[in-house]
Amino acid sequence: MSVDMIIKNIGKLITSKDTGRPKTKKEMNQIEITKNAYIAIENGRFIEIGEGNNYNHLVNESTKIEDAQGLLVVPGFIDSHTHLVHGGSRENEFLKKIEGIPYIEILKQGGGILSTVKSTKTASEDELYYKAKQSLDKMLELGVTTVESKSGYGLELDTEIKQLKVANKLDKNHPVDLVHTFLGAHAIPIEYKENHKGFIDIIVNDMMPKIKELGLAEFCDVFCEEGVFSIEETEYILKKSKAMGYKLKIHADEIVSLGGAELAAKLKCTSADHLMAASEAGMKMLAENYTIANLLPGTSFNLNKDYANARKMIELGVPVALSSDYNPGSCPSENLQFAMQLGCLGLKMTPNEVLNAVTINAAYSIDRQDEIGTIEVGKKADLVICNAPNIEYLMYHFGINHVNKVYKNGKLVVDKNL
Ligand code: NIG
Ligand code: FE
Repeated sequence: MSVDMIIKNIGKLITSKDTGRPKTKKEMNQIEITKNAYIAIENGRFIEIGEGNNYNHLVNESTKIEDAQGLLVVPGFIDSHTHLVHGGSRENEFLKKIEGIPYIEILKQGGGILSTVKSTKTASEDELYYKAKQSLDKMLELGVTTVESKSGYGLELDTEIKQLKVANKLDKNHPVDLVHTFLGAHAIPIEYKENHKGFIDIIVNDMMPKIKELGLAEFCDVFCEEGVFSIEETEYILKKSKAMGYKLKIHADEIVSLGGAELAAKLKCTSADHLMAASEAGMKMLAENYTIANLLPGTSFNLNKDYANARKMIELGVPVALSSDYNPGSCPSENLQFAMQLGCLGLKMTPNEVLNAVTINAAYSIDRQDEIGTIEVGKKADLVICNAPNIEYLMYHFGINHVNKVYKNGKLVVDKNL
């Protein structure tokens, strides 16, 4: 048998083994290290992983042999919570933020998410596409090969569809794979301030069925927060969306401890995201249900808030993933590597735990565990060659991009040697 490509001379190949469920407790800290490794790729998938030069049986005259130059190789990073597609930016609120005006207060004044809703409505599909593509290019350069992308800056059908169409088009045209989430329940439009039910009826009766019919989103998400969608409203929306065939996510317990973690477990959501204010009872329920806690330390950093209690979650057996939360307000940065570094410095996770959180557990948080998240035979050949001697270095040396090369589906898509 011969293969399309061999990547040889890998100093350290680092990956987890997928055991059929997300990593919890001590497993979160376990990784496999193969020194002096090679990887064989055929049809965009891993076909063999071995040591030394034992790949001769896989080589013929058309096999490409790439040299990893003794560097570190890890699975392609997965950014499983982003608000990739939106119009405009919000640096006009930056001074208010520095002065200490709370995030939710800015939203109540008609700024925040609602200001991005205005810019997204007025932006053309092409403008949104170009802006999101630039962000996606940055993410790929940082080693991210799969991105979850939420709508939620339309709050009415046409603009929600416009955002989701842009994300679907990027999925087709860009090397990065996208996973699509409908987040129509992201804020209450001013005109529905006193009539939540009126807006929820539109989400449930008009938006969700249409978006499902068009096949534009796989997940449904709700911003469950004091002053936004209550626990009861979130439960109602998510039950309806489940009945329509959506998989579920919640922006849960981000600022106030409302019981979002408990609700995510009860509804068997794929993930509960943020959880900076989650209760211990909620964490226990997440653990019992294998609901992924998707932690977003870049948001804590940028909002100057407490970090989620990752150590408690891991102790209790909650499977933890980690993402950027890239958005124009609470976390205006595409840099997942920086979020990983904050995973260690802010969430007090170990480098191994962080790696599992942005690879295999992130894959579970978007239901892509059968395709990505580890370097194992049969999975998509998404990998990053890093200019780093070990995984600790990757998290310790912060604020820079460690990528040397990125392969997506077995194709070289970023090459910093050039
Ligand atoms: O994940 N919390 C709600 N949604 C986003 C922020 C969106 C925005 O500020 O534009 C988040 O933090
Ligand atoms: Fe978010």
